[in-house]
Amino acid sequence: MNHAKWITHFTRNRQNRPEPDWAAPISAPPTVLAPMLRSVEQFRLGDGGGPASLIAFNRENFRSRTSELRQIVDLWFAEEAEHARLLGCAVRRFGGRIITSHWSFTAFCLCRRALGVRFELQVLTLMELVSTAYYRMLRNHSPDGPLAAMCELILRDEAGHVAFQRDRLSSDGCPKLGVRGVLWRLQFLLFGYAAGTMLWVNHAPCLKAIGGTRAEFYSEVTRQLLRFIRSLRRVEKRAGVPALWARPARMQFQTAK
Ligand SMILES: [Fe+2]
Ligand SMILES: [Fe+2]
Repeated sequence: MNHAKWITHFTRNRQNRPEPDWAAPISAPPTVLAPMLRSVEQFRLGDGGGPASLIAFNRENFRSRTSELRQIVDLWFAEEAEHARLLGCAVRRFGGRIITSHWSFTAFCLCRRALGVRFELQVLTLMELVSTAYYRMLRNHSPDGPLAAMCELILRDEAGHVAFQRDRLSSDGCPKLGVRGVLWRLQFLLFGYAAGTMLWVNHAPCLKAIGGTRAEFYSEVTRQLLRFIRSLRRVEKRAGVPALWARPARMQFQTAK
């Protein structure tokens, strides 16, 4: 992985970040505002509002590989903390409260802590993909301008995070060939839909209230997951790795003459 590229990316991404106009008048009706507020309150906790760092018991196995990687991880989580700040502004705008615990977030952190840094990185990658689906729907249907502007900023960051995860996975032994490669992709999709379903269960009232549908959400989740898997393949192609379905070359037996 090109560490310098990611340090430059995260450093540059701090620039040109127009702050949403939080003081603008609110025009959303109360029937939409209430579920939207509950959703944004919860999302603030999950998106950088908790521990803005890797928390797996063996996180140093990843972080301390190089000093550059440690810096990249810190820059990545600084952006997550910025998401929590932005979401906090939206919560205050709608007259909500900053929540510090929720059952789904507690379960999320327990998994991240207990199952090791490799699993934690996969869970975080999947959360970035399904969160992208959420923020896209929230932006597209938002009845509130500043909220849509906030989603635009977060989506810009998440696109960078997803690209970083793709680079990390490609350079870090994501299985590329044969049955292992297919199984890895299947488990990735399976956990991705599980993460998406958890998000839908908690945030459907908001997404429905603003005019979204379950079909739209799952098609967005599918789009994000498949695009990520396809982009892994593109990186592999550039590195000269044969396709999943490529058979290993047959061993040539020489017959004695
Ligand atoms: Fe985020
Ligand atoms: Fe992210």
